Amino acid sequence: MPAVPNPRVAIFPGTFDPPTLGHLDLIARAARLFDRLIVAVLHNAAKQPRFSVDLRVAMLREAVASQPGVDVEAFEGLLVHYARARGVSAIVRGIRGGADLDYERQMAATNRHLDAAIDTVFLAPSPAVAHISSTLVREILSAGGPVRGLVPPAVEARLASEAPAGRTQRA
Ligand code: PNS
Repeated sequence: MPAVPNPRVAIFPGTFDPPTLGHLDLIARAARLFDRLIVAVLHNAAKQPRFSVDLRVAMLREAVASQPGVDVEAFEGLLVHYARARGVSAIVRGIRGGADLDYERQMAATNRHLDAAIDTVFLAPSPAVAHISSTLVREILSAGGPVRGLVPPAVEARLASEAPAGRTQRA
């Protein structure tokens, strides 16, 4: 990537368990607004995600491979600590509707309390993907249903071939 003086760096954090087309829509929007976007995948040893952090990072890397200025990394601990260490000035989060609002507002206020220099920027996803959630994708996967049109093709291919974290693949 060419060097930009005082580049505006944003972080798009999440669990991405698994990454969806909704996430990809927000990544594309955020990448247009900032010089560099770090997609940060939470690695929380206390949580039990369905897919390993390595797989979530790999799926996202494949899905954003053609997008300049977008990097995918795993992070642990407090988001604001990681963001500050990376020179980030904005946290990007998506708001799909009213159900997201209270949680996102609370999280933004807490992050501001922890580090007032880092702002949270809310983006609205395209209506075409605003119904998609990782939780529902996991539910569909658990029932052996199709996730085409809900996750990026690269993720769909991976999900078809990889076993979920902590489970053995069914024949
Ligand atoms: O995709 P998600 O699960 O809605 O993402 C939540 C995430 C990863 C952004 C949030 O849990 C987080 O930032 N975790 C890191 C720990 C932290 O900084 N907590 C305090 C701020 S609310």
